[in-house]
Amino acid sequence: MLNKFTNLTKMNKESNQGVQLDLSRVPKHVAIIMDGNGRWAKKRGLPRIAGHREGMKVVRKIVRRANQLGINALTMYAFSTENWKRPKPEVEFIMKLPEQFLVTYLPELIEENVQVRIMGEEEGVPSYTLKAVHEAVERTKHNDGLILNFALNYGSRYEITSAVRKLALEVEQGNLRSEDVNEKMIGSYMMSNDIGDPELLIRTSGEIRLSNFMLWQLAYTELWFTDVYWPDFSEADFDSAIHDYQNRGRRFGGV
Ligand code: FPP
Repeated sequence: MLNKFTNLTKMNKESNQGVQLDLSRVPKHVAIIMDGNGRWAKKRGLPRIAGHREGMKVVRKIVRRANQLGINALTMYAFSTENWKRPKPEVEFIMKLPEQFLVTYLPELIEENVQVRIMGEEEGVPSYTLKAVHEAVERTKHNDGLILNFALNYGSRYEITSAVRKLALEVEQGNLRSEDVNEKMIGSYMMSNDIGDPELLIRTSGEIRLSNFMLWQLAYTELWFTDVYWPDFSEADFDSAIHDYQNRGRRFGGV
């Protein structure tokens, strides 16, 4: 953990000034849509998978930074339910990344008290991917530092549809009256329910959309977009996002 105020030297490329973060007001839960791996690779005349490989290293960097800043949870969009449409070799490569990531970094993550989690549909995910992730979840389940929540084969509309289906079943079976369905109840069916909603969403690569990510949970989240491709995303960029978040007035519909 750093001091309450941390003055960072290598910062915001435009202003070239340090940003000062108030460590007593960091967001508890940050969600990230890691985008731009393919374009990063293309720009360098490399195959797309080179971008994913580099992106994996950036995951490690940002996890470390989030932990240093005292953030409670980081949810990272690693693979969406729509990503199956990609060429098979690319899908296979991405599905091997969690294993590669954990083989390389799990000892350090354990050392840093990180708790690994997964959210998404397990059906369809290769067994070697699940094995690696389940092992990491098991081995870190008693850690009480940063929660590193990988969204893998995750789609928000699917998540909401599943919630509605479960509630409908409760009504059908006579356990619940439709007029008793409320927001809290629906929220409790979301896969990230016990982490709380993200206060900040970061999306890299210049795309300004949510791409079926945590649609329920992001209702009041501050959104932060950057043109930087994920493999180029640095700790300084992450700090800039936190800094901007700290300078926004969150009113939740109030005044
Ligand atoms: C989006 O870039 C990236 C992905 C769909 C894969 C994300 C995966 C990683 C960053 C590595 C994950 C690491 C672990 C540990 C699971 P894109 O391919 O859509 O880029 P493009 O829009 O430029 O084509």
